[in-house]
Amino acid sequence: MLLRQLFDHETWTYTYLLADEKTREAVLIDPVIDQVERDIKLLEELGLKLVYTLDTHAHADHITGSGLLRKRLGSKAVVGAKVGAEGVDLTVDEGDRLKFGSIELEVRATPGHTDGCVTFVTGDHKHAFTGDALFIRGTGRTDFQQGSAKNLYRSIHDKIFTLPDDTIIWPGHDYRGMTFTTVGEEKRHNPRVGDGKTEAEFVEIMNKLDLPAPKKIDVAVPANLHCGIVPAISMSGEPLPERGWAAIERTPEGVPEVTTSWVEEHMGAIRMVDVRELDEAEADGMIHGVEIIPMGTVDRASKVWDKEEPVITICRSGRRSGRVALDLEKLGFKRIASMRGGMVAWSNR
Ligand SMILES: [Fe+2]
Repeated sequence: MLLRQLFDHETWTYTYLLADEKTREAVLIDPVIDQVERDIKLLEELGLKLVYTLDTHAHADHITGSGLLRKRLGSKAVVGAKVGAEGVDLTVDEGDRLKFGSIELEVRATPGHTDGCVTFVTGDHKHAFTGDALFIRGTGRTDFQQGSAKNLYRSIHDKIFTLPDDTIIWPGHDYRGMTFTTVGEEKRHNPRVGDGKTEAEFVEIMNKLDLPAPKKIDVAVPANLHCGIVPAISMSGEPLPERGWAAIERTPEGVPEVTTSWVEEHMGAIRMVDVRELDEAEADGMIHGVEIIPMGTVDRASKVWDKEEPVITICRSGRRSGRVALDLEKLGFKRIASMRGGMVAWSNR
């Protein structure tokens, strides 16, 4: 079985790619909407066909890529039956089995972080994808979305700790740079649920956590109840950003980028900001319709821009425009991307 662990650095989310190496059929567990281009590229490079996307639960911290991947690749969106999501292709519950190629995934209901949480276990019990039930030396929180520390304790003990000690645990997140663990390791070292901790002790630990609400909960939960296809208004009544508006790929530094051919297809329909100095742009040529706003003045100019409006940043090589795109994202602009390779790539396209 091919197995890849992928990471979204904004939400610390792990996505897993599993595939049968013979039939090339693949699934993605917990895909993130902002990483859809990365995932599609990897699937293409490895010659894999995405059959299913599996969500371990309705996430509060990121939007699932399941709806967008279905649109792009024809995959089927699978979630736990108790999530109550709309528009899914298949719901699964305790004891169900999901097949792709020769690989079988067993579904174990592991409520507690949310009611609808499921853990996916490979048929040979070598790997368990625990979502936000069990983390490395931690657990998912239980203070929102029907969370229940009692239920989580029972789920972990009855459904995960009953697996062999050498079963590898692949968690939904990690915040300390760890990647995976094993059942035996967590039984011994998990400070919340391992090392002989009782249910009462666990409940007390969880009650004392006092964590802030996840930043994206108002946006993510309603979206995830619709396969990540975002409804127009969030639960708090705020208008929502349109996601998946462009074929964005992030660089290793996190810069959102689009290709020159994407810009060519969409020019005229979107705001294009060239961040070079005016004399440099005039000397080297510019794309028809751009606004010249030198890098040092973007901060001031952007104060009057609509944060929902799509903006493409451009410079000579893509370096300055990338920095500007990141800065604008930090300022709250929701649909920003830098043109990869800048004007050098534009002239060579
Ligand atoms: Fe979660």
